[in-house]
Amino acid sequence: MSSIKQTDNLNSVIRQHAEWLSGQLHAQRENLFPPNAQKSMRTFTSGEAATLLGVNDSYLRKLHLEGRGPSPALTPGNRRHYSAQDIHDLRVLLEKTARKPGDYLPGRRVSPEGSEHGYIDHLQVIGVMNFKGGSGKTTTSAHLAQRLALKGYRVLAIDLDPQASLTALHGVQPEFDLHDGGTLYDAIRYDSPVPIADVIRKTYIPNLDLIPGNLELMEFEHETPRALSQGKAGLFFFRVKEALMQVDGDYDVVVIDCPPQLGFLTMSALSAATGVLVTIHPEMLDVMSMSQFLRMTADLMDVIAESGADMSHDWMRYLLTRYEPADAPQNRIVAFLRTMYGDKVLNAPQLKSTAISDAGLTKQTLYEVERGAFTRSTYDRAVESLNAVNDEISELIQRTWGRT
Ligand SMILES: Nc1ncnc2c1ncn2[C@@H]1O[C@H](COP(=O)(O)OP(=O)(O)O)[C@@H](O)[C@H]1O
Ligand SMILES: [Mg+2]
Repeated sequence: MSSIKQTDNLNSVIRQHAEWLSGQLHAQRENLFPPNAQKSMRTFTSGEAATLLGVNDSYLRKLHLEGRGPSPALTPGNRRHYSAQDIHDLRVLLEKTARKPGDYLPGRRVSPEGSEHGYIDHLQVIGVMNFKGGSGKTTTSAHLAQRLALKGYRVLAIDLDPQASLTALHGVQPEFDLHDGGTLYDAIRYDSPVPIADVIRKTYIPNLDLIPGNLELMEFEHETPRALSQGKAGLFFFRVKEALMQVDGDYDVVVIDCPPQLGFLTMSALSAATGVLVTIHPEMLDVMSMSQFLRMTADLMDVIAESGADMSHDWMRYLLTRYEPADAPQNRIVAFLRTMYGDKVLNAPQLKSTAISDAGLTKQTLYEVERGAFTRSTYDRAVESLNAVNDEISELIQRTWGRT
């Protein structure tokens, strides 16, 4: 590093600083995350695997002893540890003899006489939104997508936020790994969009694919007004929906982590969504800004509906995030929201937990970290809360498909 002379122009100073920073970040990244490092999903004890599958541990042991299904890894103490792939393979095996179809693979039912895309049930597209940053959108999206995948749904997670936190959580570095594009923008741009399949990546979790995001998504916010003025945008709010239609048959559920503003990206996600999840941190300032968010969303949806688009959704729910049951002011707000919105507020709140924020510091969800990394009671409480939220959403999906 050479020092910068007093007489240097500001632009060259800034450029120099950018280069230093980029070099340092690169070096740090190589340290923390060598180029060939891969994130991986942890393994599950036989008890955890049994709970995920909804069977008894003794039944899993029996399958293992009879040599049916996958061979779990054995610890020196002869305990069975199942990988996420093992659990998926068990689902496939158990589904063959399930009492009710869908008990182990809960996704869309295949249509016997080949309807559109060959399914009876339609693709669920869940938009997680609120224009307040920090309301828990990314945390909610990541845990929902991972939990649904672990439960046997085929899931596509889309990071629509240029800040790309969901992307980073899944081991893709938005500033390094996406040099030549690779975000949803490539598939929804107005000039020469690519097939959406080109930007979908597998993750280290079976059943979970990802479309990463980065700052390039902002181009959609800039391009749309231009395309509209040139009459090239068509029905711009259908860009996401149209792109998703190309891979409709490959997934059961799409989870979209929306940006913290009501721009064209969010409108496009809203038009694609069949279910809308609004995250609310129950504090007065957040709730006040939410009333503005709801009014603006309704206005936008009116505009879209006026152009003839169908704005009906299967469901819409509020999710309480970072909730602290011992906090009296929060409880007053929660009571107030529940009175006002009734069953539109999910029963299960997402509790505030250091386990969730600490896992986030190492770019992991709570489903990825080992239980032993935390005080058991802290970990258990947080996981139970996340599971309750995600399973309530799974139930909404099942009900939408006419199952209970
Ligand atoms: N339930 C929770 N308990 C503790 N910390 C949380 C919880 N949910 C989110 N956080 C933390 O709050 C911050 C903002 O959450 P995030 O999901 O990124 O919000 P958003 O995507 O709406 O901006 C993150 O640092 C995250 O780790
Ligand atoms: Mg976010």
